[in-house]
Amino acid sequence: MPREIITIQAGQCGNSVGSQFWQQLCLEHGINQDGQLSEFATEGGDRKDVFFYQSDDTRYIPRAILLDLEPRVINGILSGPYKNIYNPENFYIHKEGTGAGNNWAAGYAMGDSVHEEVLDMIDREADGSDSLEGFMLLHSIAGGTGSGFGSFMLERLNDRFPKKLIQTYSVFPDTQNSDAVVVHPYNSLLALRRLTQNADSVVVLDNGALSRIAADTLHVQEPSFAQTNQLVSTVMSAATMTLRYPGYMHNDLVSIMASLIPTPRCHFLQTSYTPFTGDNVEAARTVRKTTVLDVMRRLLQPKNRMVSASPSKNSCYISILNIIMGEADPTDVHKSLLRIRERNLASFIPWGPASIQVALTRTSPYLSPPYTQRSPPRVSGLMLANHTGISSLFKRIVQQYDRLRKRNAFLESYKREEPFRDGLGEFDVAREVVMDLISEYEQAEKADYLTGGGDTAEGTAGDARTDGVTGR
Ligand code: GTP
Repeated sequence: MPREIITIQAGQCGNSVGSQFWQQLCLEHGINQDGQLSEFATEGGDRKDVFFYQSDDTRYIPRAILLDLEPRVINGILSGPYKNIYNPENFYIHKEGTGAGNNWAAGYAMGDSVHEEVLDMIDREADGSDSLEGFMLLHSIAGGTGSGFGSFMLERLNDRFPKKLIQTYSVFPDTQNSDAVVVHPYNSLLALRRLTQNADSVVVLDNGALSRIAADTLHVQEPSFAQTNQLVSTVMSAATMTLRYPGYMHNDLVSIMASLIPTPRCHFLQTSYTPFTGDNVEAARTVRKTTVLDVMRRLLQPKNRMVSASPSKNSCYISILNIIMGEADPTDVHKSLLRIRERNLASFIPWGPASIQVALTRTSPYLSPPYTQRSPPRVSGLMLANHTGISSLFKRIVQQYDRLRKRNAFLESYKREEPFRDGLGEFDVAREVVMDLISEYEQAEKADYLTGGGDTAEGTAGDARTDGVTGR
């Protein structure tokens, strides 16, 4: 039985990333631009129904809800080549169409005012699933809609579907770039609270790192969003590969999360992927030597990480899951793991198994000859990693927030919105939650984390043992 996943994409970034993700999934499952199976799509073995359902006329339709408070990006999708794959009832564009103006509070308040309509759409999708496993939210945390509306939806999903998993793909702003919109730290901090409290797993993708990888590795000077989104959709495709092309293990979301998230609050994951080969990423199409060891080594290189964290000397991995795709021989995997251990290429927390987990998976047959002209790399890999160094990214957001807040800068537009009607307490709570999160990751670096090395760690580690991965 498929364990279905409903995708909710919110705001400009969420919908742009989502649109590339669905195009990628269609290619990988032999689904054409009208949702029909292509003539050649005869090789079974894939589970299309995790992400798609079939309409009466047997077309495949994404289990996707597209939300935005302004029409531009969704209109682009509706006039693009894949416009026919979506269920037209699953688009929600706010009737005023003004957007949230880079204001988390405006996005959150608008979410509140329209939530019944949106939850109806979600209920309809949920009722159409046999064995719904959970939700995937795609959004950015820096603007108003993906961040504010997204936060609101995370809270409601939690209330309405307490037993379902919630995973997000959250695009963080480039915190090292001073040109960024000045209120990003406000929005990011407020959204980060909901990601901490209302999501089971957050895949962090940061625009600074995405641009750097596109520029350095792929030799693109000023990468466009289309190019960085291609990186994101490649990561999303790989992260869901074991669900869509299942093997013995890691074939549902809960088993992937259980491998990576030993204590519920430390649920922020980083990714690395190698080698990139996308149509939009021309320069990546060079032929590289791709042995399993090469792939596994590259995955551990900080420059390939899609998060610009600055780990301290104590930072370490809590867990690693490598998803290795293509023609990988299990013996090569064992040899590579031994080599990585000998060379001490990855340091782990002192209180858990210091091992890299590996999932070997098939790739889509439709991406190789005879269906396409080009051959994919022999082996490619995605690393999903839980690393304590992620707290440095959260610290940077808090520092930037503190600087703005000290000057009381740009607060008027927030005060006008409902969440701030009674004062600025919303900010203070969010800051406290994020500071606790930072301290949780710092505690996790210590040997006595599980046995009570501090207040925060004691509480949550205890919860983790009883609640496991679904404990929020
Ligand atoms: P409002 O515009 O305020 O209504 O909210 P929104 O959620 O639509 O805003 P948006 O998604 O544009 O969020 C702004 C943040 O997202 C900034 O950090 C942008 O750099 C980033 N961003 C916007 N579009 C994309 C995209 O297509 N890809 C990536 N990677 N980042 C994006």
